[in-house]
Amino acid sequence: MKLLLFCLFLVRSCHGNSKPDSPHFTSIFSFGDSFADTGNLVVLATPVLKDIWIDMPPYGETFFRHPTGRCSDGRLVLDFLAQNFSLPLVPPYLEHNSSFEQGANFAVAGATALDFAFFVNNNLSSPFMFNGSLSVQLGWFADLKPSLCKSYEG
Ligand SMILES: *[C@@H]1O[C@H](CO)[C@@H](O)[C@H](O)[C@H]1NC(C)=O
Ligand SMILES: *[C@@H]1O[C@H](CO)[C@@H](O)[C@H](O)[C@H]1NC(C)=O
Ligand SMILES: *[C@@H]1O[C@H](CO)[C@@H](O)[C@H](O)[C@H]1NC(C)=O
Ligand SMILES: *[C@@H]1O[C@H](CO)[C@@H](O)[C@H](O)[C@H]1NC(C)=O
Repeated sequence: MKLLLFCLFLVRSCHGNSKPDSPHFTSIFSFGDSFADTGNLVVLATPVLKDIWIDMPPYGETFFRHPTGRCSDGRLVLDFLAQNFSLPLVPPYLEHNSSFEQGANFAVAGATALDFAFFVNNNLSSPFMFNGSLSVQLGWFADLKPSLCKSYEG
């Protein structure tokens, strides 16, 4: 069930110093499911599940050489886009240990467009489904926004 498709915002400089026609983007914000998740599901699932299959080989083995939380043995389309724009690989938002100045990834593998509560209330959820639906991802973005572009807002 793939209800939430890959969605990506490329943001030009907040500081107004990029030329209007320049293809130069300064950050990437990504929302979505396993097509784009670079580690959020693992953060959500770790306290609940013992063995998280995407956190074990062969996941990650062809490029990163270790599991990264991506549902892939290599890079995702999002990774190729980031590299192509000379930006860092987009860090998962829930791993709060990197700077989000150049972007953040809110995608959660298995995420749905409908709220998680809908699935719980209709007995449609599964032990592998976590509360990272689109509205939650947008909420995380709203939480992060004040710390971005401070000089622009100020
Ligand atoms: C980005 O992708 C385009 C289209 O495939 C290619 O022409 C260009 O060389 C790539 N740039 C980098 C820095 O990888
Ligand atoms: C974030 O923290 C995790 C767990 O401590 C660590 O494995 C990972 O390398 C860190 N990532 C960065 C970008 O520092
Ligand atoms: C999912 O998370 C959101 C935001 O934290 C929360 O408001 C909501 O109650 C949670 N839903 C469920 C079913 O736990
Ligand atoms: C969900 O399952 C519970 C327990 O089996 C049941 O009581 C409830 O009626 C079910 N709800 C729906 C919407 O099917």
